Amino acid sequence: MRVLLTGAAGFIGARVSEALCDAGHDVVAVDAMLATAHGPGAEPPPECRVVDIRDAAALAPLLKGIDVVCHQAAVVGAGVNAADAPSYAGHNDYATAVLLAEMFAAGCQRLVLASSMVVYGQGRYDCAEHGLVDPLPRTRADLDAGIFEHRCPICGAAVSWRLVPEDAPLRPRSLYAASKTAQEHYACAWSDAVGGAVMALRYHNVYGPYMPRDTPYSGVAAIFRSELESGDVPRVFEDGRQMRDFVHVDDVAAANVAALEASVEGFAAFNVCSGRPISILEVATELCEARGDAPPVVTGQYRSGDVRHIVADPARAAEVLGFRAAVDPRDGLREFAFAPLRA
Ligand SMILES: NC(=O)c1ccc[n+]([C@@H]2O[C@H](COP(=O)([O-])OP(=O)(O)OC[C@H]3O[C@@H](n4cnc5c(N)ncnc54)[C@H](O)[C@@H]3O)[C@@H](O)[C@H]2O)c1
Ligand SMILES: [Zn+2]
Repeated sequence: MRVLLTGAAGFIGARVSEALCDAGHDVVAVDAMLATAHGPGAEPPPECRVVDIRDAAALAPLLKGIDVVCHQAAVVGAGVNAADAPSYAGHNDYATAVLLAEMFAAGCQRLVLASSMVVYGQGRYDCAEHGLVDPLPRTRADLDAGIFEHRCPICGAAVSWRLVPEDAPLRPRSLYAASKTAQEHYACAWSDAVGGAVMALRYHNVYGPYMPRDTPYSGVAAIFRSELESGDVPRVFEDGRQMRDFVHVDDVAAANVAALEASVEGFAAFNVCSGRPISILEVATELCEARGDAPPVVTGQYRSGDVRHIVADPARAAEVLGFRAAVDPRDGLREFAFAPLRA
């Protein structure tokens, strides 16, 4: 297939580009080479054109003869403060709207969209007595006392985490999350309007070579890695038992290839995850052990807005896309302990 790949110079996009080529697809790669992601004046990878997808006139000729768009471009991360809102809205939402309009104009009917676990807000929780519940927000008194689990809204008992399926409610809790959720909503409405297919891939915690270094926008694995590189011991918040799903960038690329080739109609969302939950303390410990460094420190400190657990259900991606992650995070993180990072 002829594929337009956006964000092709990014951490994930670059790996998706290789995987698409390896699978025999014909890739038209574009990236705006944002200075916030790549530093000032960075050169694009070979074969990647410098295009800002908010620019309809630049996009239109590239969409001629394209069978499917694989849309990775976005401004990522948790952000610093409300000053980031226009950037998220512009690069993530307005850009997606321009892309959808130009796909319509070019008669391109298929979109693979890089979405994120952040659309869920928090994970899924279960009370031993009351079953699935929407837990109470954690109180300062509990957190100060080292009680980090959410409580049941009916009986107040601590609740346990469960796997999050794709039909969980969408409750974005940050500006970035709001912009990723809006991307899905635009894409879903577009698929209804034009009869197109959209596969929204909700990546969980992605890690791997060329992950950006520690910035206010990077993930926890890169933060631990950067701490280790500068000779510091990784500092783990709360009790370290926060559960996540860490998925290797090679598996994320494989999921994109699977989605591109799948016969899905209308809008469908898929968790892209390893299916092997891991705690944040285990993540830090794997990295320290692999490097032969001192073990991480569990600080008991907390940030009130942090999500306690978010663990994905991999079943739908396996069933519909035939995607199963190949890399166990315990192996992948050991390799990541020495992998190159993006400056
Ligand atoms: N890294 C993760 O853990 C993670 C998790 C969930 C979802 N995602 C999603 O995966 C996708 C790729 O993220 P990444 O981690 O590779 O980030 P990244 O910053 O490395 O890559 C994003 C790329 O998009 C480009 N870009 C941004 N705005 C653009 C525009 N208007 N026109 C053209 N190019 C533009 C940037 O220059 C950059 O190269 C994003 O959609 C992100 O939301 C990432
Ligand atoms: Zn209860």
